Amino acid sequence: MIPDKAPGEDVLHAPEDLKKEAHIPSFEKYKELYIKSVESPEEFWGDIAKDFFWKTKYTGKFLDYNFDVTKGEIFVKCMEGATTNICYNVLDRNVHERKLGDKVVFYWEGNEPGDEKTVTYRELLQQVCKFANVLKSQGVKKGDHVSIYMPMVVELVVAMLACARIGAVHSIVFAGFSAESLCERIMDSQCCLLITADGFYRGDKLISLKLIADEALQKCRDKSFSVEKCIVLKHLTKEDEATIPGSLSPPAKRACPDLQQEKQKERIKKVRPSPQVPWNPEVDMCWHSLIGGASEECEPVWCESEDPLFILYTSGSTGKPKGVLHTVSGYMLYTAATFKLVFDYHPDDVYWCTADIGWITGHSYITYGPLANGATSVLFEGLPTYPDVSRMWEIVDKYHVSKFYTAPTAIRLLMKYGSEPVLKCKRDSLKILGTVGEPINPEAWQWYYSVVGEKRCPVVDTFWQTETGGHVLTPLPAATPMKPGSATFPFFGVVPAILNESGEELEGPSEGYLVFKQPWPGVMRTVYGNHLRFETTYFKKFPGYYITGDGCRRDKDGYYWITGRIDDMLNVSGHLLSTAEVESALVEHEAVAEAAVVGRPHPVKGESLYCFVTLNDGISYDQKLEAELKKQVREKIGAIATPDYIQSAPGLPKTRSGKIMRRVLRKIACNERDLGDVSTLADSSVIDELFENRCGNQR
Ligand code: WT7
Repeated sequence: MIPDKAPGEDVLHAPEDLKKEAHIPSFEKYKELYIKSVESPEEFWGDIAKDFFWKTKYTGKFLDYNFDVTKGEIFVKCMEGATTNICYNVLDRNVHERKLGDKVVFYWEGNEPGDEKTVTYRELLQQVCKFANVLKSQGVKKGDHVSIYMPMVVELVVAMLACARIGAVHSIVFAGFSAESLCERIMDSQCCLLITADGFYRGDKLISLKLIADEALQKCRDKSFSVEKCIVLKHLTKEDEATIPGSLSPPAKRACPDLQQEKQKERIKKVRPSPQVPWNPEVDMCWHSLIGGASEECEPVWCESEDPLFILYTSGSTGKPKGVLHTVSGYMLYTAATFKLVFDYHPDDVYWCTADIGWITGHSYITYGPLANGATSVLFEGLPTYPDVSRMWEIVDKYHVSKFYTAPTAIRLLMKYGSEPVLKCKRDSLKILGTVGEPINPEAWQWYYSVVGEKRCPVVDTFWQTETGGHVLTPLPAATPMKPGSATFPFFGVVPAILNESGEELEGPSEGYLVFKQPWPGVMRTVYGNHLRFETTYFKKFPGYYITGDGCRRDKDGYYWITGRIDDMLNVSGHLLSTAEVESALVEHEAVAEAAVVGRPHPVKGESLYCFVTLNDGISYDQKLEAELKKQVREKIGAIATPDYIQSAPGLPKTRSGKIMRRVLRKIACNERDLGDVSTLADSSVIDELFENRCGNQR
């Protein structure tokens, strides 16, 4: 339960002037609305739904569901019977009804300082309509699935909204994933078309996206799944661009931007190579040529509330990624409401979320949530440390960013360089700071709050998941007194509980499994193509509850503190990876007989990957093999999964039934000698050897 009054001690409060204009100005108001949202969801969400356009009204219950596997199939339905279109609501409604056509939707800031572009709501709508017509001309229809593998460019938003406009389902794959991962996702989601780009720069590094995409499509063909349509955006290469009217990518600016500042000129002197862009005219089509001839008129396709909107893959503990499926109406209401209230959005805000659109944070809080509110955002292609570690704060000053949302790993990274790179920028436009992705350690929280925000800006530590669609535990900036490191209280409509191992709800201060007792509009509806897996993963262990997979503590004041994953998942730089996924990539190497992967705390990344490998007989471990294994994982999954440590382990600690005891391996990785209860260990002689040869001992 939420306390009647927020605690007055040991907490930090929002400044008074922020409270004056806030949507939810006090804890009392939060509490009052929270009760309404849980007791009368129809009324609470009805007020939010009024802002949107509905072609037809809903007929059944506002929210209908079953969360109990013992009572039948799990389902969630929100506003069944209503028809709408999310693209219409985030674009046409803003341009035509709310007269925001000339308002900037995105300040696009490229990897290179000086490479920039401004796009208004009207321009975005035009581009989306044109591209929706392109998709239609390629035979894409309502219900078809489209894979998108693109860098952080405005055209990525165009592609996703064009899908939504015609009722096609987008499946975006983060552009850091490997060909193998892309292939797996294209096949699992049964996509009929791929949209990609020639390439992009991350800092100094060229990523030849088209080459990787080609490899992925070839892998699909090898597995008898053929996608023979690929639309390619020319982001770095010049070809065709100059002659195409209405293109969002002006010629060649990306590769050799016209930079004013001396230091930037210096850096760019070394000419940037362009990516290789192999072209198969049977399959490949140029984005610019297609869109150039397309009409700007495109009637949206009216969708049912529970029609799928998108699929987005997240790691699963079996190693096979899960295609999390979200549907139209509930997701639209939920991302719109959380964006407005958690960032206390006002029309003159400039908002910046540094996440990539390839993750759920970008889906919900770069595209759908902000656009549903008619917000102006920064869309950033680059890195926080390129060309130097002041880049983020320079961008904040350049666009007068007022609401800033990033990940703890980025904060810790920048913190390493001290406060000087921050202090040389003004940052006086900032009003609210947010974090997401993993528990934030109080030290990083304090630095963010004190140095970046100069104690003027509340920090909203938002806990949520790909599965939850939007924030589920979060402060509201003017209403919730903050405790550094706590995600505080539930958002409207969300009912958390803490369970013990036997599934009993714990009251008062306690620690255990974080679960939710009832759905909210934005919760996922199924795992695409595998509803059973959806039920087993989230609902089987504790019938009647959605299980998050996170551990959680509730303190004496009722604040929730996420303690981290309690399943076989790792959180590396805010990205979830399953140990099984990395292990299966390792054992695919011919030298490896068995592998076990655990997380070891890392000062910047949160966790790093520590891998134990048992080699096949007669093979000895050396640097060459280590490099090969790292490469293997990078190629199978992507650079984010590259092992930090690999230890050759002739034997692994196992139970008598043969289960690897990861708990013990975690201790070894951290050099903690107190192993706890090891009575179930089959052969304890392996332990000493493992400690002896730990990575880090020698270094
Ligand atoms: C997992 C979900 C939600 C977008 C980014 C990650 C961890 C996320 C927090 C937070 C503590 C957090 C959890 C969660 N997590 N936000 N504020 N405090 N932990 O999405 O890849 O689906 O990962 O990230 O462990 O279960 P995701």
